[in-house]
Amino acid sequence: MIKISPSLLASDFSRLGEEAAACYDAGAEMIHIDVMDGHFVPNITLGAPVINSLRKCTPAVFDVHLMISDPYKYIRDFHGAGADMITFHLESDSNPSETIALIKSLGMRAGIALKPATPAETVFPYLKELDMVLVMTVEPGFGGQSFMENQLPKIEAVRRECEKLGIPMDIQVDGGIAAETAPLVKKAGANVLVAGSFVFKGDKKEAVELLKKPV
Ligand code: DX5
Ligand code: ZN
Repeated sequence: MIKISPSLLASDFSRLGEEAAACYDAGAEMIHIDVMDGHFVPNITLGAPVINSLRKCTPAVFDVHLMISDPYKYIRDFHGAGADMITFHLESDSNPSETIALIKSLGMRAGIALKPATPAETVFPYLKELDMVLVMTVEPGFGGQSFMENQLPKIEAVRRECEKLGIPMDIQVDGGIAAETAPLVKKAGANVLVAGSFVFKGDKKEAVELLKKPV
């Protein structure tokens, strides 16, 4: 089954609570929340206090994507704020196994994200500990960028390895996901689609339904 996680980065930040609630009402399984620290990526977005306020607005699964240099240090804060799952970057400074273990010890689901230049094989040693792998299909930092087709073989490679190991992994894609690119990532093996601009630029329900269509 395909799951959709609309990225709030493309929403109207003055109405963040309503926007999150509307995504849930449109049938999205989760809400993607992009946290950027201006250090790991050249942009700053929001942090735990904002997520804490949003928690009152919707029962949706909060899928928190940490684009920060030291995710380990902030895992407890994001848990306290109401995150249900946390994805951090393999290229960050934190120890991957320790970070996964901390996320899971707090009862959340754990994901590792790979920037476009990071090879698929680098995540293989952690697959057994993970609930999700996020293959970035743009350079992290900004919404509204063009989809990178050269990431499709990476999605295929992660899916192949998970099948070989018998792990029913969620494989998430993030960046440039829209009507034309969604079928490509699904065919490659992704089953959780993040979409910012595509969901927020028009009718959310129509966009979510279109992205969910099986290939
Ligand atoms: C980019 C973020 C994405 C972003 C996607 O670094 O991780 O979640 O919001 O935006 P679109 O779907 O517009 O490419
Ligand atoms: Zn993201």
